[in-house]
Amino acid sequence: MTQATPNYDMDEIREGARRILLSNLRQGVADWNGREYSFVCPSLTGYPFQWFWDSCFHTIALLHLDAEQAKAEMRSLMSGAQPSGFIPHIIFWEMEKQPDFLSRNIVGMTEPHYSATIQPPIIAYAVERVYRTTGDEAFREEALPVLTAYYRYLREARDPDGDGLIAVIQPEEAGTDCSPKYDEILGLEELSNRGFIAALRKVYAAYEPLRQDDHAVLAADVFHVEDVLVNSIYAFSQRSLARLLGDSPEAAEFNREADRTLNALVEKCWDEEAGAFFDLAGVEERPLKTVTISSLMPLILHDLPRPIVERLVESWVRPPEHFWTPYPLPSVPASDPKFMPGNPGGFIWRGPSWINTNYFLSHSLRGHGYPELSEPLVEKSRECIARSGFREYYHPYTAEGLGARDFGWSTLILDF
Ligand code: GLC
Repeated sequence: MTQATPNYDMDEIREGARRILLSNLRQGVADWNGREYSFVCPSLTGYPFQWFWDSCFHTIALLHLDAEQAKAEMRSLMSGAQPSGFIPHIIFWEMEKQPDFLSRNIVGMTEPHYSATIQPPIIAYAVERVYRTTGDEAFREEALPVLTAYYRYLREARDPDGDGLIAVIQPEEAGTDCSPKYDEILGLEELSNRGFIAALRKVYAAYEPLRQDDHAVLAADVFHVEDVLVNSIYAFSQRSLARLLGDSPEAAEFNREADRTLNALVEKCWDEEAGAFFDLAGVEERPLKTVTISSLMPLILHDLPRPIVERLVESWVRPPEHFWTPYPLPSVPASDPKFMPGNPGGFIWRGPSWINTNYFLSHSLRGHGYPELSEPLVEKSRECIARSGFREYYHPYTAEGLGARDFGWSTLILDF
């Protein structure tokens, strides 16, 4: 069988990734806590701080170039852990850059140096990857108390009904900020980034007196979403944590929790009629029946029941009218009336394809035995980068690069 010549040069991609991981590197000592930081920011212009899940993706990419820097990235992120176990979604290391950022963005905060919110909890997987690559026992020992406290915090603070599914309190916590699945519960009056920010302001105002108390925020039932992407990553990462813990009662605790989350995803979020997973909104757990990239994310769980895997792949991933666009996988299926493939003007996660979700899903499709989908997904993702550079996201029909330039997590391509 002859191998088709790829439409990209892998050496050039590697060199481009190295350049971004170096140029976006921020190092120094914070003048507000005297701690050393060393991390890659998502974008020097748009996102100049340390973001939680971006940082985990940067760590994984760095393992292909400089394992010591990968450890430093994780150490900087873990140093943001609070006594409760909480780790913020943004750490504002270089405070002098904050006023400019906050003039363009809205962030929930209870104190000036950290956001008061979470992001998809992928950290245990990133730490596991560092440990597997370096075999560094001291690093593992240092990380374990932070990780166990963090996942216990999520369970205690974010799962008030104890069903194994944690809840997010605002869309940015799920990492897929303006996803159309939230339009209705946010009460969006205008389908634009401006409309999104206006709706978010109302949520933030309701939280103002409650921010210090997760249970009170969730009980207020303003934006209470058991999000499928977040919970898929929660289950996936608790398995990593259990492996890192080795043969111990704590490992059994996190494996048990991962099982509970998987079972709850299947029992409560799977919709047999639609053949997709849906988020649950509010204390009364009303399914948000909009298919997005998040609906596919349970595929990252290798023990997802086979009939569900097949249904998701055949109903949604493979059909060109849904997710299999020329440059897959779009953040919203092409069949959705709200699908917005081109430049969204900040109204993100409503059509373009992203490298981080392609990363998860290419590995998942390979793992579940679909090489005819995983291989083209890898090839197309590389092609997007070769043609348009390391951008924040890509047009799912043309591979045009959109959003931030020199964007950190697109270097995940090194680990596809
Ligand atoms: C956007 C994305 C979020 C990401 C952040 C920094 O807000 O939606 O997932 O973490 O940018 O890159």
